[in-house]
Amino acid sequence: MRAMLDVSNEFFNLPEEEKPKFEPKDVLEPVRYGTSFNSAKEKVFCWRDFLKVFVHPEFHCPHKPTALRELLLEYCEKTRNLVRKLVRGISESLGLEEYELVKTLNLDSSLQILIANYYPPCPQPQLALGMPPHSDHGLFTLLIENQVGGLQIQHKGEWFNVNALPNSILVNTGDHLEIFSNGKYKSVLHKAIVNNKNTRISIAMTNGPSLNTIVSPSSKLVENEGCEPAYIPMKYKDYLFSQQNNPLNGKSMLNRVKIQNN
Ligand code: OGA
Ligand code: NI
Repeated sequence: MRAMLDVSNEFFNLPEEEKPKFEPKDVLEPVRYGTSFNSAKEKVFCWRDFLKVFVHPEFHCPHKPTALRELLLEYCEKTRNLVRKLVRGISESLGLEEYELVKTLNLDSSLQILIANYYPPCPQPQLALGMPPHSDHGLFTLLIENQVGGLQIQHKGEWFNVNALPNSILVNTGDHLEIFSNGKYKSVLHKAIVNNKNTRISIAMTNGPSLNTIVSPSSKLVENEGCEPAYIPMKYKDYLFSQQNNPLNGKSMLNRVKIQNN
């Protein structure tokens, strides 16, 4: 984990010409480096640089720093194994068979994306955001950071600082866990604030279904519970494309697939 944070720091400090060329329009390119979230669509940028790399089912990696490839390969495998264990427990907690979620959402070809975030010191932090409030699209995001705080999560309408323990992995629930569980698990609303002293680096590993899976609330769950599905089915790829193509805005993408009861 420490080596991943160090190598990410090295990446962001490379001369610009050694970083991958970035087209803000291609939101599903396997290797992307840029500023803010979607600078092609935003009027105001976030105080953040990012590197996004699709690492599963196909492994991609920038060429530099050279140490990145081996580390990333190991890190993505280990975090995928951890997610597998979490997902089996979650499946059982919903009263489903242990491998139900793995099978239904085709996790053998799950989409896993490395997101390295770099938040430099900001001279007027109260006027800026590292990342605006949003929820992550996948099932689980595993987040690690250097010892500079900045992540906040919303609970019962209030924002709380996440004071992550050293060497810990923070597990955030994502939109597709909310959809699959028919709202029994909620995706967590979170944001990153910035400070005027230290550079913050975080590494988020998003773990989703396979890109071509059409996700809906688990039919077995809905049947067992005798309830109605609360979300419309949507292909993960379409969901991702739509979310990434718009400025980040709370849970607005999830609300578009939510069936409103009136
Ligand atoms: C993200 C994210 C928060 C952070 O990359 O999706 O929410 O603490 N990052 O950097
Ligand atoms: Ni996030």
